[in-house]
Amino acid sequence: MLNSVSWKCADGRIVRAFQPDLAGLPGKLRLIDQTLLPEQLCYVELADAAAIHDAIVRLVVRGAPAIGCAAALGLAAVCRNQSVATPAAFLAQVRRTADYLAGARPTAVNLSWALRRCLDSLEAKTAAPVEQLQDILLQTALDILQEDIELCRAIGNHGATLLQDGMGILTHCNAGALATGDYGTALAPLYVAAERGLKLRVFSDETRPLLQGSRLTAWELHQAGIDVTVICDNMAAQVMKEKRIDLVIVGADRISANGDTANKIGTYMAAVLAHHHRIPFYVAAPYSTFDPATPDGDGIVIEQRPATEISRGFGKITAPEQVRFYNPAFDVTPHELIAGFITERGILRPPFARTLAAAFA
Ligand code: MRU
Repeated sequence: MLNSVSWKCADGRIVRAFQPDLAGLPGKLRLIDQTLLPEQLCYVELADAAAIHDAIVRLVVRGAPAIGCAAALGLAAVCRNQSVATPAAFLAQVRRTADYLAGARPTAVNLSWALRRCLDSLEAKTAAPVEQLQDILLQTALDILQEDIELCRAIGNHGATLLQDGMGILTHCNAGALATGDYGTALAPLYVAAERGLKLRVFSDETRPLLQGSRLTAWELHQAGIDVTVICDNMAAQVMKEKRIDLVIVGADRISANGDTANKIGTYMAAVLAHHHRIPFYVAAPYSTFDPATPDGDGIVIEQRPATEISRGFGKITAPEQVRFYNPAFDVTPHELIAGFITERGILRPPFARTLAAAFA
């Protein structure tokens, strides 16, 4: 059994992962502002749709499962704050707000998945009083969050079977407690292994341009007492060649039916390097990240982010601004490079077209 991942604020309070302060609900969504980490651990309070949309776009809250949870809880909060007279008007407002929030980021399927589940929960209740519909919506959002915590825990238990004392693990971006309801996906096996007394040496790619690996993964693993070394993304090949890495584990934003996997830009590069060095490359994800409706990676929409993230990331001008920039936020790792998917249903192995379909039918 895992303990919840928690951190100590400057004022001494202990806070949990991205977790909204449930006392703030139903009218507000309170969550950690991840743009301020690791310098400051602060909460923001969001009460309207534009603020929640903006928080997802700006990566105040980020990571595929976390944006799904935040959008669902945010939808419930927003649709409680506005007074509408009839169930029909309420349902129209829920649909409008869900559509708007789903458009905040296109790649992570968990966002639209969570909002769809919220809409579905109201489907058969169209004649119920508005207050009852509001309660159903909130309960669905809380269920999504609770389920995500349990999924991550199961992923951690399955993934920990791959780990042995003394191993070197490379991860990319942040697929930890900050990116989920708790524990994470790629980091969950590391938390479980640490609880079982295994000593691991984790290498965290810095993850240009927004540094989720150095700002967030290194921060949360260090807080948990797990040995973590930050490397720049372009150092991974050398570190592998030096035989410091036994296993790579990353998260995912969307996994197509054949196993092609969208994750943070640079993941594909890490997978190619792992293949060259014969290091097993695993993807950890819950069922909500699998997208059977998309046959392969070519069908995955890749989010494009502003040039300024590259040209003046974190304030410093790092390139002449007159030149062109290209800033895809994600890439797609071909399924051939993936040794297995660590899911709540166990570790799924190739041929993925068959094993994924069987697991998530
Ligand atoms: O742009 P981000 O920071 O939201 O990207 C996050 C990732 O790519 C994660 O690896 C992925 O969402 C999995 S989180 C469990």
